[in-house]
Amino acid sequence: MKKQTVGQSMDRVDGRLKVTGGARYFADHQPEGMLYAALVCSPVSSGRITAIDATKALRAPGVADVVSHLNAPPVPGYKVENPNPKQGLKIFHDDRIYSNGQPVAIVVANTLERAVYAASLVKVTYAQEVHQTDMAHSMDQAFQNKNMKDYLRGEADAWKKAPVSVEAEYNIPIEVHNPMELAGIIAHWETPDKLTLYAKTQGVKSVQQSLKTLFQLPESQITVHSQFVGGAFGMALRIWPMEIATILAAKKIRKPVKLVITRKDMFTLVGYRPAAKQRIGIGATAEGKLTGITHEAVANTSPYEDFTEAIVNMSRMMYACPNVNTHYQLVPLNLSTPVWMRGPGEATGAFALESAIDELAHKLHMDPLQLRLVNHADIDPERNLPYSSKYLKEAYEMGAAKIGWQQRSQTPGKLEENGWLVGYGMSSGVFGAGRGRATASATLKADGSLVVRSAAADIGPGTATAMVQIAADATGIDVKKIKFLLGESEYPEAPRQGGSSTVSTVGSAVNDVCRNLQQKLGELATANIPAFKDLKAENIQHEDGQLVAGNTRLDYAALLQQQQLPELVVTTTSQAGDERKQYAMYSFSVHFAKVQVHPATGVVRIKHIVSVADSGTVVNSKTARSQMIGGVVGGIGMALTEEALIDHRFGRYVNNNYADYHVPVNADTPPTDVLFINKKDPVINPMGAKGMGEIALIGFAAAVSNAVFNATGKRVRDLPITPDKLI
Ligand code: MOS
Repeated sequence: MKKQTVGQSMDRVDGRLKVTGGARYFADHQPEGMLYAALVCSPVSSGRITAIDATKALRAPGVADVVSHLNAPPVPGYKVENPNPKQGLKIFHDDRIYSNGQPVAIVVANTLERAVYAASLVKVTYAQEVHQTDMAHSMDQAFQNKNMKDYLRGEADAWKKAPVSVEAEYNIPIEVHNPMELAGIIAHWETPDKLTLYAKTQGVKSVQQSLKTLFQLPESQITVHSQFVGGAFGMALRIWPMEIATILAAKKIRKPVKLVITRKDMFTLVGYRPAAKQRIGIGATAEGKLTGITHEAVANTSPYEDFTEAIVNMSRMMYACPNVNTHYQLVPLNLSTPVWMRGPGEATGAFALESAIDELAHKLHMDPLQLRLVNHADIDPERNLPYSSKYLKEAYEMGAAKIGWQQRSQTPGKLEENGWLVGYGMSSGVFGAGRGRATASATLKADGSLVVRSAAADIGPGTATAMVQIAADATGIDVKKIKFLLGESEYPEAPRQGGSSTVSTVGSAVNDVCRNLQQKLGELATANIPAFKDLKAENIQHEDGQLVAGNTRLDYAALLQQQQLPELVVTTTSQAGDERKQYAMYSFSVHFAKVQVHPATGVVRIKHIVSVADSGTVVNSKTARSQMIGGVVGGIGMALTEEALIDHRFGRYVNNNYADYHVPVNADTPPTDVLFINKKDPVINPMGAKGMGEIALIGFAAAVSNAVFNATGKRVRDLPITPDKLI
């Protein structure tokens, strides 16, 4: 039998296309007659547009039109009769300005340069109103909406009665996604009611559904192409007002229009991880048994949408603790709406919880790893369910051995290397292991090759590669003869790539459609091939792309050829069943960091990272390792460098570029050991694979902060840990 391909380190099937320029990202497309757009964005942060003078812009060379709320075609799906102000930004619908950088007009011309120049000629006047972008000054505006329920298990605030307790406040600033590929869209109305889009999205079907509602078109009239995405981290999980603006301009002008937003506008137009202020109270017995956790969080949102995420959820389920209460509120600011960003909510919450655990361990004079072991949850304490699989204890052990945890000093500030203080820190991470519903089609060709299609997305983790491996193992067909196609709205329905669930959700559909294909082939053989006549289709063996009955082996290709079938197509929908009610399904991670801190300058250097993932079966060891390292790099940014800074006098970002918004570069990124438990989850899906995209980042910042404390005795509770906070 052919060697199993799931678990192998396989090169990306689209790797060559990506490094040779053969991969076509949304902006690489060039529909006939395409025009270029540039946005005019508001320099005020709250108020109204009183006038737009486009005279000069319209006279500039090559300009096709200037579209704004004064002349945009109506969006039939905007809910205008309902005065609920939380329906999102209805771009070009009225004169209202909610935040700095909000698009007020889109200029379309026959070259990008002409569009950008003409945009500078549009004169907009505003009636400015008072804005608020500083969360610290808006705490009196905090509210809960109907989706934000307080949680209570046992007794509220029980930590206050504990023999040993810690109460502390933790803050994270706004972080932006800023993948290399800029956001935007190409919109083309082929007829007044037929729309074709080249998009940067984590879900082509999701874009199609949003536009179906907004433009009240049947699904069949909206085509979305998005085969390659140059990174997203959550920013492309929804459609944005600037995309609607482009679609409106294309509708008015009746030509394809391309918008690629600027790096600066990536801070204001495509969401971000919201700023959050968190308070944790945590108490334990003298032996370190947790008796109570209270976790309260406030995060910002926009004036026109409530963005909520799972900031406090980890505190409910991570540790065996009888008394837990959580509380979570939003504060509206004059900023655009936040959006999910890698480890959405959990990454924020884990920084607070996993720092507090470390603070508690210090107070207890206990090894923080030991404290976590003492409070390990053997069953899910929130839902009282067994785990489908959990190897967290093994992960702690593996990581500790790899980083050399025994070298850590329990007393901070004791270790030194070449004049730098040395510290070790750790943290845990967790994220729900999801499985949604997806459909895949499998087309077996008469030459024996297989094409599997599903409207999934790939924002970088190597989706097509993993799917080819899953299909190869399910069918026995060689990986070289299998293609997986994604990113087209005409393909069978798949959810957005998010929540670390693509392998689980789409992979299951791929596995299942391959099984059904084999069933169909079996039926074909029993009906037509003498050697198989006495068998039932389900009893036929399948090996290496062949049907097997005793000594008779028949190639799939030969069967199709004999039956004069050019191809055989099977489509299958796959989804989770009742098992999700019987088991708690989570992926876990453990992060260890060794840091050096310079005592005079406060510079932090991360010297060694060990990240261990309990994410079930690892489908591709190479892409999985890369994905974990990517998450760790995001975690270094969260811990040490990333902070979107606003000048609150103007409500405007001041470091809105790659030079001033610091993401980790190679020099910031030390050797990273990625270890996998790699044990199949027996319940979640046929592959036994849980997700790993989010756990790669969740908790990481706390590991660094805890290591910095271990090195210096200084506890930094406000991210990022910049040198000024250590001297
Ligand atoms: Mo992710 S935040 O689920 O793209």
